[in-house]
Amino acid sequence: MAQTDTTDRGNWNSRIGFVLAAAGSAVGLGNIWRFPTEVASNGGGAFLLIYLICCFAIGFPVMVAELSIGRKTERNPVGAFKALSSNKFYPLIGFWGVLCGVMILSFYTVVAGWTFSYVFEEIFFFAGLDSWATYFAEVSNGVKNGIFSTIFMGATVSIILGGVSDGIERATKFMMPVLIGILMIMIGYVAFQPGAATGFAEYLKPDFSQISAPLIFSAMGQAFFSLSLGMGALITYGSYLSKKENVPEAAAFVTLADVGIAFLAGLLIMPAMYMAESFGVNIFSESGELLASSDLIFQVLPALFHSLNTTAGIIFGVSFFLLLSMAALTSTISLLEVPTSYVIDEYNVKRKKAAITIGAGILIISLIISFDISLIGSIDFIFSKVGLPLGGFLICYFLGYVWTVKNALEELEHGYPGLDSSIFKAVWPIFIKFLAPLAILYNLLEAIGFISYIEQLF
Ligand code: PHE
Repeated sequence: MAQTDTTDRGNWNSRIGFVLAAAGSAVGLGNIWRFPTEVASNGGGAFLLIYLICCFAIGFPVMVAELSIGRKTERNPVGAFKALSSNKFYPLIGFWGVLCGVMILSFYTVVAGWTFSYVFEEIFFFAGLDSWATYFAEVSNGVKNGIFSTIFMGATVSIILGGVSDGIERATKFMMPVLIGILMIMIGYVAFQPGAATGFAEYLKPDFSQISAPLIFSAMGQAFFSLSLGMGALITYGSYLSKKENVPEAAAFVTLADVGIAFLAGLLIMPAMYMAESFGVNIFSESGELLASSDLIFQVLPALFHSLNTTAGIIFGVSFFLLLSMAALTSTISLLEVPTSYVIDEYNVKRKKAAITIGAGILIISLIISFDISLIGSIDFIFSKVGLPLGGFLICYFLGYVWTVKNALEELEHGYPGLDSSIFKAVWPIFIKFLAPLAILYNLLEAIGFISYIEQLF
């Protein structure tokens, strides 16, 4: 194995740069597209509640685990497991992560491409060029999808080429505040429109009778996806982190930022749906459920924007889809950074060559998906809904029982002088060794029907 080419690894320039980059990875289509969709299809407030529990009780402890493994080893996910144990089996956890990253990125660029093409849909709609607007709204047009995925992958690769501080850190430091600004302005506007109150109520009022095993499984998967956990993205970002930083504190910032933005996105989307309804847009499917998934973002919201006057419509329509594209870009760069850092570290390849080759390879899968978007559902199920929690489970197991909590705490002490007497030190080991892995395992077994099979035996 070739050793790390330190010159091509890089480091974060500043603490805020790291936090914004990690929050940028976390905040993405997961927050603004997937989260409101999950809320809408899982009974509103009940889902929100379980989701919050999953983020704080499972997500946050796993995030600290990933960051500490990364910072200790200064390696990509595969190299990190190699460095911490001599057993040949454990680096497979890292391989699984890299594979999940590659597969998630392959469909993520297609969805991100849709969001970007909707910027043009809005412009042409308000310019009165309806046939152009319709063209940019076609989600199953393979050629159009292919072009937009290529644009997205190109943008991602070019940022990754800039490296850690000049590329990733600089780009996210600019994009994150702009994103939050646009989101807040839109919430402020929608909140006072007709129908908004019903949306708020549906979103915030938990109906406990809706809580079920599939809902919990969805909430857990959503927490992993949204926090970018389970595939080593944060092992990689942690590997560029200085020993001076307080890891649990940084992880808490990132978790709060991600959960906060998902929550805000819900505050925008749910009222916007009912506002659209008050304008005569149909927001329920034939079976009476709220429209979700691509219908939600790509039909209901444009219908809402189109019902506004030209100035308001173009401002909100264009900024919303630009916002979504930007959020997606800060996530795609972290998805590509995982396999890139793996190849840089383990095969001593230069960053430029690694990023371009891997980006091009993943683009080939994206192009296949562009022509058959029904593939997205199954890839998402295998590599994110199951794949990420599975990765998270293996990371908990590795940290708790192989590397050991004692070693991890020693690593976390750097940058956290008060660790010894902290509540964190008393509580985190319990979550990482027992609560989080058991909850994940139970949910995964439940999802594949194992638990009900066992129950039937008795
Ligand atoms: N967290 C990102 C989002 O919410 C997606 C992502 C998943 C990014 C896994 C990196 C790793 O959109």
